[in-house]
Amino acid sequence: MMALVQEGYGSADSLHVRGVPVPALTEGRVLVRMRAASVNALDWHTTHGGLLLEIIGKVMRQQDDPIRGVDLAGTVEAVGPGVTRFKLGDEVLGSASATFAQYVSAREDRLLRKPPELSFEEAATLNVAGHTALQGLRDHAQVKPGQRVLIHGAGGGVGTFAVQLAKALGAHVTAVTGPLNVDLIRSLGADDVIDYTKEDVTRRPERYDAVLDIAATRSVASLRRVLAPTGIFVQVGAAKHGGWFGVFGRIINVMLRRRLLRQRVTFFVAKPGIEDLVTITELIQAGTFRPAIDRTYPLTEGREAVRYVGTGKARAKVVITA
Ligand SMILES: NC(=O)c1ccc[n+]([C@@H]2O[C@H](COP(=O)([O-])OP(=O)(O)OC[C@H]3O[C@@H](n4cnc5c(N)ncnc54)[C@H](OP(=O)(O)O)[C@@H]3O)[C@@H](O)[C@H]2O)c1
Repeated sequence: MMALVQEGYGSADSLHVRGVPVPALTEGRVLVRMRAASVNALDWHTTHGGLLLEIIGKVMRQQDDPIRGVDLAGTVEAVGPGVTRFKLGDEVLGSASATFAQYVSAREDRLLRKPPELSFEEAATLNVAGHTALQGLRDHAQVKPGQRVLIHGAGGGVGTFAVQLAKALGAHVTAVTGPLNVDLIRSLGADDVIDYTKEDVTRRPERYDAVLDIAATRSVASLRRVLAPTGIFVQVGAAKHGGWFGVFGRIINVMLRRRLLRQRVTFFVAKPGIEDLVTITELIQAGTFRPAIDRTYPLTEGREAVRYVGTGKARAKVVITA
């Protein structure tokens, strides 16, 4: 099969389309013919990797798979021993590793049947962006109807999901985004959209019950200025500049504030599963939510898809198809 294989670290240039063996089918796993796999900032970060990532991987004894991608939609090609929920030909979505490939071995409990009203491309966007936005708003910010929520970095994959899910939770949503995405974010239902090239949100008099920081382009201290006294700041994203030290520096900053200063700030890592994917697909079927896709690239041009996500200019989701 063909796959987008990473050789070394550094940039999207290290990604090459190569022939590799089809994954072996083992107990409890499903072989999926990938039809679409979305690209996340995570794929860009791991592709750029570097020394710190290599050290962490070695310390945690993680096996480094040279094929990136964790979001998936496709058709069941074969089922392994013990698989009961799927059969040949089923259309599925969910999470797996090494999804930038024609065939993917996925755990049965990480897959869900694809609703017929969703295209493969749309279905492939739900895993990381959906889990992150939903868990950030519902579980960590604990957003309630009528609360005022600020989504900082609304234009990307997680942001476009967060705007719609915050509305679905009954919040009043203010979204901060770049000039290219203002119209898109308004069309997704945000009550108020701030173009960060024209206005500095931290100078606004409004106070928000929850701030979801996806962009990580402003300091935690400055964004906390617009937080209500009982509000919560949820760190979701990490800046693409500053390497892995920048990423972990931000997390450490949030954790120190939480422990030492006892501020209502938190950071989380989204947990995959299928319960939240069921919730999201139900919202889609009810017409409350729809994934937005900016560009689609064939697997042979997957490297460009990862590069594009790295520019920070991607509007909503970017998808690789096979
Ligand atoms: N904690 C977790 O479990 C978790 C899970 C998934 C992703 N993440 C992180 O969340 C972040 C977003 O992921 P993603 O996949 O959605 O990436 P993405 O699609 O690249 O989105 C990042 C967005 O940040 C926005 N942005 C850039 N500069 C900005 C600025 N000056 N002010 C406000 N917004 C700005 C951009 O949208 P605009 O058009 O609005 O500028 C961009 O689209 C990444 O850092 C990723 O690593 C965390």
